[in-house]
Amino acid sequence: MNKYKIEIVTDADNLSRRAAEIFVDLASRAINEHGIFSVALSGGSTPKKLYALLAAEPFRSNIEWTNAHFFFGDERNVPPGSDESNFRMANEALFSKISELPPENIHRVAGEKAAVDAAGDYEQELKDFFRNELPRFDLVLLGLGADGHTASLFPDSPALEENVRWFVENWVEKFNSYRLTLTFPVLNNALTILFLVAGADKSEVLAQVLHGSEKNYPSQMINPTGGELRWLIDQAAAADEIR
Ligand code: 6PG
Repeated sequence: MNKYKIEIVTDADNLSRRAAEIFVDLASRAINEHGIFSVALSGGSTPKKLYALLAAEPFRSNIEWTNAHFFFGDERNVPPGSDESNFRMANEALFSKISELPPENIHRVAGEKAAVDAAGDYEQELKDFFRNELPRFDLVLLGLGADGHTASLFPDSPALEENVRWFVENWVEKFNSYRLTLTFPVLNNALTILFLVAGADKSEVLAQVLHGSEKNYPSQMINPTGGELRWLIDQAAAADEIR
């Protein structure tokens, strides 16, 4: 894996707090520099506490919500009310608590649609927002699956080879279903990519992803072309790192 910055914090709560500090810092920098902050949120369970922290003080009043645009790095092919939905998780933890956040600043993936339509519609939304230029998110939040996946780029799935489309439907054999995900060209074009990894169950795969000789895992293909790659991990996940 190319150059990256690692920060190890004691536990999942401190990881969320540190992630919130980084989020606020990047948001204010982006808005000061180019008037807008675009972020692609990750799903799963790790970022939930981060989203809840952002909705509360001291972080909430330090974000210019009217200039912040929230996208999703990936989504499940389910309706927004499903307990599988990444949108639902972010909406319950964050969006629904921020009256200052204009609804048009929340760019939801229409997971309720047929996968190919949801992907095509979202790619069009990205083209509209980024004026047909390859999206350059100010921040992309990513998680790390125990199998080394990130976003919905799973091992041996077709989207790993996608280098033209920005957002695709990705058949995931083990789920026997589609997932919806940003592709590597967009992810790697971000200004900052921040992995959030917590828990002992991630220590083995994390050590492999960071130091493994072969490129066996999708997360190892995350290498920002011009931006920075940061890993924020708790001590439990860093166990193999610290040894
Ligand atoms: C998703 C996520 C996925 C997640 C990893 C880690 O839609 O589930 O985008 O890539 O980040 O699976 O999930 P945890 O943070 O819950 O371990």
